[in-house]
Amino acid sequence: MMLFDTHAHLNDKQFIDDLPEVINRAKDAGVTRIAVVGFDFPSSLEALKIAKKYKGIYAVIGIHPHDASTLDEEILYKLKVLAREPEVVAIGEIGLDYYRNLSPRDIQQEAFIKQIRLAQEIKKPIVIHDRDAHEDTMKILMKEKAGINGGILHCFSGSWEMARRCMSLGFHISLAGPVTYHNANRLLEIAKLVPLDRLLVETDCPYLSPHPFRGKRNEPSRVRLVAEKIAALRNISLEQLADATTQNALAVYKL
Ligand code: NI
Repeated sequence: MMLFDTHAHLNDKQFIDDLPEVINRAKDAGVTRIAVVGFDFPSSLEALKIAKKYKGIYAVIGIHPHDASTLDEEILYKLKVLAREPEVVAIGEIGLDYYRNLSPRDIQQEAFIKQIRLAQEIKKPIVIHDRDAHEDTMKILMKEKAGINGGILHCFSGSWEMARRCMSLGFHISLAGPVTYHNANRLLEIAKLVPLDRLLVETDCPYLSPHPFRGKRNEPSRVRLVAEKIAALRNISLEQLADATTQNALAVYKL
């Protein structure tokens, strides 16, 4: 069985001391591929560094909405240069976060649009962060024809209707630890309804540890718990779910 953790922040400082062990535990759990996702420029550089060092690890580079204010012309240019490295499989995570609003909303929108256009220029998919910003996220995705090279709604938290619209634009839907939480409700429906050829799994580690590790540091090996939960909800085997989601991830990231 092989799993692909499509969204992990192994570039986070929480992994500085034991990254090789974390990667080994992932392999032991059948997690043979991991996409390490940047959130600002230094973490994007670090993602690439990790991807160059370890087999089966890829880099996603970009500026998170929290750090949208840091995206000036120079950083945008540097991202474009970095994006041509073969280990860089997508631009992300980019998008809108109206929950914490760490950058002003208009700045977030501007950074989101600039990075969508960057991805289009280099023909790479995008990894989207949308928290409490469903309406504006959809507006921008549609207006920019952002699904042209595919992409991922990471840690999806929208409605089934939104999932359908995203899939029709060419995106895949990725689910993380929250699908295992006791208050998951709507997410359980999404996990059952998304067609198997549009579904991905991720950890978003070090955040969002699945049940029963909620609140602890998360790591890629635990994507297995997310996959097990979704497989059980859909009445299919873990192997079937792992196989389908890995094939989907390989297709999205063009590997
Ligand atoms: Ni993330």
